[in-house]
Amino acid sequence: MDLKDKIISERVPEHVAIIMDGNGRWAKKYGKPRVFGHRNGVKAVREITETAANLGVKCLTLYAFSTENWNRPRLEVNALMSLLVETLRIEINSLNENNIRLHAIGDLTKLPKKTYETLMEGIEKTKNNDRMMLNLALNYSGRWEIINAVKKIMEDTKSGAFQIDDLNQNSFEQYLTTNGIPDPELLIRTSGEYRLSNYLLWQIAYSELYFAPIYWPDFREEDFYKAIIDFQQRERRFGKTSEQIQ
Ligand code: FPP
Repeated sequence: MDLKDKIISERVPEHVAIIMDGNGRWAKKYGKPRVFGHRNGVKAVREITETAANLGVKCLTLYAFSTENWNRPRLEVNALMSLLVETLRIEINSLNENNIRLHAIGDLTKLPKKTYETLMEGIEKTKNNDRMMLNLALNYSGRWEIINAVKKIMEDTKSGAFQIDDLNQNSFEQYLTTNGIPDPELLIRTSGEYRLSNYLLWQIAYSELYFAPIYWPDFREEDFYKAIIDFQQRERRFGKTSEQIQ
């Protein structure tokens, strides 16, 4: 029996978030520069995007560049930004043909001009697609997002557009970059590290966590199936007892 056949199609998570970790170590294993790892990471991005869409996932959020990643050597930061532009240019038509909508979360206006413009073009071009959203977290961090939301709420409170008594989990979520997107049911991290690295801190309150022991460039179709199968075997209780959810 193929791994894919073990997946219960009615219970595929609507939103899967991924921390694509281990590109650098993968490259080192082959005695190559870190950028070689990122380039091969793009191949995994392509394959997992296609696999997720085929399974019926509605949103795939990929951690492509964190706020903290600016601290990497300038050469690597520049290479990552160029790779993003190059990949978007190559892939945008294919995303469009496959009815996939490109979206991005993070402090996007601080991205290099060319990266920002290419991203916006892609988002605009694919905005009516509704099979799956490919959501790139770029210059993103969970703490930045929460502070950013608080700032906007304070501004709206000052201008009278928001009343403090109306603050609750639902109204707060509308100020997050993921407004309108359901929380991820499943968070995958590759490379064998067990950390959240400031990713979607608010949204993953009840997410199932799955840690794959392989580097991101090696993470392929079958590995995604394994994560989904693992997810489907778990009992999501949301604070209730096992008996209550039977
Ligand atoms: C983490 O591995 C990976 C990143 C910070 C960048 C991820 C980027 C890509 C896969 C390419 C561009 C993506 C898209 C969506 C086109 P690491 O460098 O931290 O690896 P290490 O932990 O082994 O050093």
